[in-house]
Amino acid sequence: MAINMKGKSVLSIHDLTIEEVEQIFDVARTLKLERIVGKLVNPILAGKTLAMIFEKPSTRTRLSFDIAMHELGGHPIYLSSNDLQLARGESIADTAKVLSRYVHGIMARVFQHQKLVDLARYGSVPVVNGLSDLLHPCQVLADLFTIREKFGSFCGRKLVYMGDGANNMANSLIEGCAKVGMDCVICTPKGDLPDKGVWENALQDAELTGATIEVSHDPIEAVQNSDVIYSDVWASMGQEAEHAERVKRMMPYQVTPKLMEVSGGAIFMHCLPAHRGEEVVDEVVDAPYSIVFDEAENRLHVQKAVLALVL
Ligand code: CP
Ligand code: NVA
Repeated sequence: MAINMKGKSVLSIHDLTIEEVEQIFDVARTLKLERIVGKLVNPILAGKTLAMIFEKPSTRTRLSFDIAMHELGGHPIYLSSNDLQLARGESIADTAKVLSRYVHGIMARVFQHQKLVDLARYGSVPVVNGLSDLLHPCQVLADLFTIREKFGSFCGRKLVYMGDGANNMANSLIEGCAKVGMDCVICTPKGDLPDKGVWENALQDAELTGATIEVSHDPIEAVQNSDVIYSDVWASMGQEAEHAERVKRMMPYQVTPKLMEVSGGAIFMHCLPAHRGEEVVDEVVDAPYSIVFDEAENRLHVQKAVLALVL
């Protein structure tokens, strides 16, 4: 039976039940198939409007949400936070209340995760996290959908995330793997650990699904018998000033053809944008085992499902 998700905010994967995640994947699969056979518009969201607030740049998130709304018969509005009165001191609470009088949903990309929490708290329409410093749930929902397309199931599979273990991608991958029951290793320098609260929430889910969630500091050991090697930039948006120092610290975690070979047949994934020559080299991103562009495409299908279900 369909689960009613109308009005639900999607700020983290931990907040979704496994049944809700499965439902998102089911709807995404249907919408993807429809698009493949040429049905470009399915007006599930006719008459509905999505406000898309961006405090940071974006290629994939902006385009995929914009196109998702168009193909579902709705209307997206791009709002750079610099152009809103937020930039001149209007509060998040007042902004959320005003937007809720106009639009049916808000998607936001922000620095502080708390801003998303406040948008959802003070507004009366669902809020979707388009990336915060803490989490990037839409990316990881699309990643999990892609992994299942490739492998058929999550059970007994192992994902190794290499690099910055303290960033939004590491945090959301931990949440996502724990939720669906896939083993996850965060392979990272000693000081770059995932968020404590995220880790504790993920352990709760992992207990239910049987997933193991671990930290390693040894790339060769971590990737043994893995199915997915995942990478992300070493300096996330907002950390540009630390770039040189972070590259130095994280270089031992670069994904190379040799590391892929040690894994014994893993596929390579990356949320993109990739900084080729830093966290991963060209030969890996462009190899047949790399599915980075399938992931990018699936952002569209999975976010369409999220919007269709919550708006
Ligand atoms: N992966 C991702 O969120 O890409 P953008 O920053 O281009 O949106
Ligand atoms: N960790 C990266 C993800 C980009 C999609 C960042 O926040 O910049």
